[in-house]
Amino acid sequence: MISPSILSADFANLERDLNRVTDADYAHVDVMDGHFVPNLTVGLPVVARLAEVSLVPLDVHLMIDDPDRWAPGYAEVGASSVTCHAEAAASPAQVSRDIRRHGARVGIAVRPGTALDPYLDLLPSVDLILVMTVEPGLGGQSFMPEMMLKVRQARAAISRSGLDIWVQVDGGISRSTIEQAADAGANVFVAGSAVYAAEDAAAEVAALRELAERHPHAG
Ligand code: DX5
Ligand code: ZN
Repeated sequence: MISPSILSADFANLERDLNRVTDADYAHVDVMDGHFVPNLTVGLPVVARLAEVSLVPLDVHLMIDDPDRWAPGYAEVGASSVTCHAEAAASPAQVSRDIRRHGARVGIAVRPGTALDPYLDLLPSVDLILVMTVEPGLGGQSFMPEMMLKVRQARAAISRSGLDIWVQVDGGISRSTIEQAADAGANVFVAGSAVYAAEDAAAEVAALRELAERHPHAG
């Protein structure tokens, strides 16, 4: 699955730019609060409107402090998937229940410096593990290939659990990096600059999907 990040879209034309990627599986919305990460992007009122106009389901990535308080609201306004950072959530299992209550999928994200092991007992509470392949906060950074170990670890733990959990990678995904992520076991690929810097964003989504499909994950 391909989830273009609208962080690299034109913030004055988000509806138009969502419509450039209608063949994508999701549209990835990066919410940053200026605390958990230094940058500030959009919040609940903007995401609520995007959920109303988008033809593609929204995959919301919350790079915010206190997701326990704020995350369920994103599910309530229509996000299809809501991902919180493990480092920020006080009670990930409870946030997960609160998000699922609104019918959305739940993701848990880990920064590059955060080990996955302490969070593996949360597997039954999540639908997706997001392995960050850059330090969260900015688009257009270089992919960190050393994160593929963590992707493999996530995929192996999921296989052992027998649960149907997706593995997402986010940061520096492009035609030259997507295959190694797919080979390691990722099956949801966020791509911001690669898609929105392309002349034809829809063709870029198709090209990325084609490359990823050469490495179907084992899960
Ligand atoms: C980074 C964001 C990413 C970002 C990816 O903090 O979480 O979603 O938009 O951008 P690219 O694909 O340009 O690395
Ligand atoms: Zn993101």
